[in-house]
Amino acid sequence: MKIVEFDFTRKVNASHAAIMWNYWDHEHLYVVHENYKDAKIIHENENYAAYLLTYKIPIFRFLTSKSLNIQILENKNTLKIFNMGFLNIAIQTTITVHEFEQDHSEVKINYKFYLKGWRRVLEPFLSRMVKSWNEKTWKEDLNLKLRRTKIQRLGFKDFTGLPPLKNRQIDGKIEINLPIKRHKNSPLNVKQNNNKR
Ligand SMILES: [Fe+2]
Repeated sequence: MKIVEFDFTRKVNASHAAIMWNYWDHEHLYVVHENYKDAKIIHENENYAAYLLTYKIPIFRFLTSKSLNIQILENKNTLKIFNMGFLNIAIQTTITVHEFEQDHSEVKINYKFYLKGWRRVLEPFLSRMVKSWNEKTWKEDLNLKLRRTKIQRLGFKDFTGLPPLKNRQIDGKIEINLPIKRHKNSPLNVKQNNNKR
């Protein structure tokens, strides 16, 4: 087994809460990201989420694949995503968020690809694919992180909206509560039919 790793570090004018919200807001996946085609949440709670994804392969965008993703909040600042999809390659993604100053954070992303058997020959192609994937998703997500930070500073709450004008200044650290609330009719919810077996 060969493990191939890639690291990316970025700074962004966004809060820890906004960045974590972005990673746990599954509803944006196939609305914002061109490479994702579908998502369904199987289960989630305050520490983890299990979901099914359909996505386009970077560079070879005429190909699609499906994966089961397990996303875990390892600690307040670290989340891990495990998935096995295209060509049965297992991938571990570790995302660490450090808010070094209010609403300014550093995000570190580490990818580990577990290449078993013949899949080792793919190593030379991975670097370009991962860089392309990471840059594209980061750019697509960026405005969500920035906007979320701004509106939370104004006191915005999901499903409630903004407070009265005189209360629109929130100071101090903004916390995130998982799981993120979704509408009961969200298209990401798995609809159970009546044929239980
Ligand atoms: Fe995203």
